Amino acid sequence: MTTPAQFVPVSQLARSARSEDAVAKHKKYLWPSVTNYFQQPLVADRGEMQHLWDVEGNKYLDFFGGILTVSVGHCNPKITSKVNAQVNRLQHTSTLYPTEHIVALAEKIAQITPGNLQQSFFTSSGTEANEAAILLARMSTGSFDVVALRHAYSGGSALAKAVTAHAPYRKAGVISVGISHAVNPYCTGTSGNIAAFIAEPIQGVGGFITPPKEYFKIVFKIVKKYGALFIADEVQTGWGRTGKKWFGIENWEVIPDMITSAKGMANGAPVGLTVTTPEIAGSFQGANIATFGGNPVTSVAAKATIELIEEENLLENADVVGKYFRGKLEELQAKHWLIGDVRGMGLMQALELVKDRKTKEPAPEAATQVMERARQNGLLVGKGGLTNRLAKYDRKRRHDLATHRMVLLHCCPTTISDFGDSTVVAYIHYDRASVEELFRHWSHHPHGLVGIAVDCFRGLGHRKRWRT
Ligand SMILES: Cc1ncc(COP(=O)(O)O)c(C=O)c1O
Repeated sequence: MTTPAQFVPVSQLARSARSEDAVAKHKKYLWPSVTNYFQQPLVADRGEMQHLWDVEGNKYLDFFGGILTVSVGHCNPKITSKVNAQVNRLQHTSTLYPTEHIVALAEKIAQITPGNLQQSFFTSSGTEANEAAILLARMSTGSFDVVALRHAYSGGSALAKAVTAHAPYRKAGVISVGISHAVNPYCTGTSGNIAAFIAEPIQGVGGFITPPKEYFKIVFKIVKKYGALFIADEVQTGWGRTGKKWFGIENWEVIPDMITSAKGMANGAPVGLTVTTPEIAGSFQGANIATFGGNPVTSVAAKATIELIEEENLLENADVVGKYFRGKLEELQAKHWLIGDVRGMGLMQALELVKDRKTKEPAPEAATQVMERARQNGLLVGKGGLTNRLAKYDRKRRHDLATHRMVLLHCCPTTISDFGDSTVVAYIHYDRASVEELFRHWSHHPHGLVGIAVDCFRGLGHRKRWRT
């Protein structure tokens, strides 16, 4: 195995026939819309806790974990040993049989969810989890309309795309009947009879947009005033990533009516969760099955992941290491104009790269450069945020909203339309040593990770705008 110790130009990254073949076949046999990160896609071969190796044997410190999914380390033996045993014992039953594994997982979830969220429905993805939540909210309230937030990402199905507020994910005539975005959690753009308000406590794909402390409490009151249900989409924020609490929304001191989740819940096994109160769950009308939902193997993976988070006190870890990590990122921000903002919570942190701190003009090219350079230096990070915005923010409207005390303004007080692609440096449950490894790893460059991006931009002729 080789660990790239310093910057390796992309042309010199080791390439093998194996990766060339995989990339060529990916192009030939998969939909072109299934895009890969990096100019020279990384063909992953194996993983071990916080490290990932490509087929050439290059070793990476992985701060992105797939898409924020490998929550407790690649192939964590404490999880995989249990999964392997289950694969050899019983793999599939469907929801038609009550296995010990589905009930054990549901019981565990009931023990750690806030309030009276005691009954679970399992599927295989975050998209399905959100579909199920909205469907149930409509059945439970008898209303149809749904309020979501601008910059939301909800998944890839037709309904989830309608909730999603990113233009690139909403092509080809998404039917948004009854879905309002927005700048309007007060529902004035709806019939006034809403079934649900759905939001990510920290918008992941949106660029780690982190509302202020009072935000969701205010929204919750409004949602209740209109007789609707509050759905917290915890696909990215769940399972302790935000520190101290199991679910992100708990950091805003709100007990939602439903929580949806997926991703980090089973450390990479496909699982979707919609958990709610017995009363709301009992309002489901008609039949309901999910062929793969609560599959014995994924249920074992999810329960083992949750137990490991508990046993290793990783909620506390995400808080403590997250604060250390955040401090380091803020030190970088103090040095580099390119970093317009550092935001997030716990071990879910992002750097917002901007061309100009005053105008907050996003620097998506810089984010791409940072990612490429990070990869070449053996570090994997991800990217989020909007460059194709759904709608331009209009200052007059902002004034209107302010006079109506529209609480969304609190969400991002100065920059509601200004979030561009940001480099998202994200991970949960890695110990402090991993975070230290990240900063050590970059120490060969005088300005670390961001310095490398700034250098890239000097090359691109933006020198005057950024100081280091
Ligand atoms: C907040 C959020 N909700 C839902 C989804 C959809 O999850 P999946 O890709 O598992 O369908 C995602 C995926 O990135 C997400 O980030």
